[in-house]
Amino acid sequence: MFFSTFLLIFFTFLLYLLMKYNLHKERLMKYVKHLPSLPQLPFIGSGYLFMGKNTKEIFNTFLEYVESKTPLVVWLGPKLHIIIDKPEDMQTILLSPKCVDKPYVYRFLPNQNGLVTSDAHVWKPNRKLFNPTFNTNILKSFVPIFNKKTDILVEKLKLLPDEEYIDISTYMFACTLDMVCATSLGYDLEMQKDKNKEFLESMENMLPLVAERAVKIWLHPTWIYKMTSAYRTQKQLGDRLFSITRRIKEEKQREYDLKNINSFNDINIEESKEFSKPQIFIDELMKLWKTGKVSESEIEEQVITIITTGNETSSLVLSNTILMLAMYPEHQEKVVAELRSIPRESEISLEYISQLTYLDMVVKEVMRLFPVGPLLARNNLADIKISNCIIPANTFIVMSYFTLHRDPKSWGEHPNEFNPDNFLPERIAARHPYAYLPFCGGTRNCIGMKYAWISLKIVLTKLLLNFKFSSQLKMEEISFRWDMTLKVENGQWVTVEKRVE
Ligand code: HEM
Repeated sequence: MFFSTFLLIFFTFLLYLLMKYNLHKERLMKYVKHLPSLPQLPFIGSGYLFMGKNTKEIFNTFLEYVESKTPLVVWLGPKLHIIIDKPEDMQTILLSPKCVDKPYVYRFLPNQNGLVTSDAHVWKPNRKLFNPTFNTNILKSFVPIFNKKTDILVEKLKLLPDEEYIDISTYMFACTLDMVCATSLGYDLEMQKDKNKEFLESMENMLPLVAERAVKIWLHPTWIYKMTSAYRTQKQLGDRLFSITRRIKEEKQREYDLKNINSFNDINIEESKEFSKPQIFIDELMKLWKTGKVSESEIEEQVITIITTGNETSSLVLSNTILMLAMYPEHQEKVVAELRSIPRESEISLEYISQLTYLDMVVKEVMRLFPVGPLLARNNLADIKISNCIIPANTFIVMSYFTLHRDPKSWGEHPNEFNPDNFLPERIAARHPYAYLPFCGGTRNCIGMKYAWISLKIVLTKLLLNFKFSSQLKMEEISFRWDMTLKVENGQWVTVEKRVE
């Protein structure tokens, strides 16, 4: 009797869920039934296409289906995803105030309240506060630090034998991590002196876990994910990351308290002259902490955010640029000729880098072929019309920057080739302004774009004046991995030979 009652309740509940699911799907299908869609199975949707796959296979599956068929519908379980990659659709989404929110999968990262991941109501006031921490005067004050950290890198590379193959990315990661900590956080992490190595390892190992969870819908419910070994690994990595950021935070809090006692006793911090001037990122955070506007854990999340966004992105662009120049020696020599043609001091200045037009074209081309964020997402708070459909409210909108940057309509017959001339002024003028978005676009674009350009050009100038890089790799041999950021599966293996002027 008990058993049959249980079965009755169970099947009634199942029927209820089924009806609810069907009604939900039917309602959304009215919007998107005319669009192409990924193959799907009942209930799981297209999720089965990603089963048992790693982040390289997931990315390849994605590319196989997406190519120029957007807007494309993907059902992951009951959740509707729309993939877009047309410049005009990107523009509509990025400029719409209804599309500032990030979808819930961003919250699989450990820094939920950071600038990258937070929802619009948390993000908006924070972004306003942090914008001035990247103003021109502050960036100017970072130039000696960028130079100093690059000098350490140059000295390290000078110790290598000429014929040795190295993966340049490991050197770049350490250098850019030191840079971002020394500038935005005023903290010397000394990664280039082989300290705090576990920080990088934790970061590198965590991103693929998050990427896999994002597409494997059955891992979305926290209670299920908690039963997996991936969760346990992610937790361990997260704890290691936070132990270092906690150290940075505590040291900064001590420094801030000391400064406060010495200079600002009895003064209202918000009204004090010193603190009404723009500060570096960590000082702005400390101000918020002292005035009770952020919690201890929020400080740590913002610190992790700035470190990960500032380091991972720049080091990927630097490593890929060195790889491309190693593979294309004619472009490397053209950059070196430009570097040598402009008078310079031993400290590379803003004025010097502003004259590097060919290097500029090379780096832009690298960011076209290797966008650090190949797939970024938004959540729309209301229905929104794009080129050939209306996207219903609360859809998971995936913007495919990888295919946007390789669309023959914008980039000609050979979009997969490395060709810095794509960034000649007349070619830029002839393209849709949203055909190229390495730093995203709209109000939620990259806050560190100018910072990135300065640091990238200083590092590349010093490296290319000192070394000649070579590689046997061919463009067609390159394969990719989607670890939230875009990784070159082959690695960035090059030989480093000392140059004589
Ligand atoms: C070449 C280097 C860089 C590239 C290509 C790059 C690219 C991007 C992209 C595509 C986004 C949008 C992410 C999304 O919508 O999910 C972004 C956001 C962001 N970037 Fe960068 N970035 C670079 C360097 C930096 C640096 C050096 C910093 C800081 C020191 C930084 C800090 C941030 C932050 C905080 C956000 C979140 C902005 C917001 O939502 O308000 N980035 N970046």
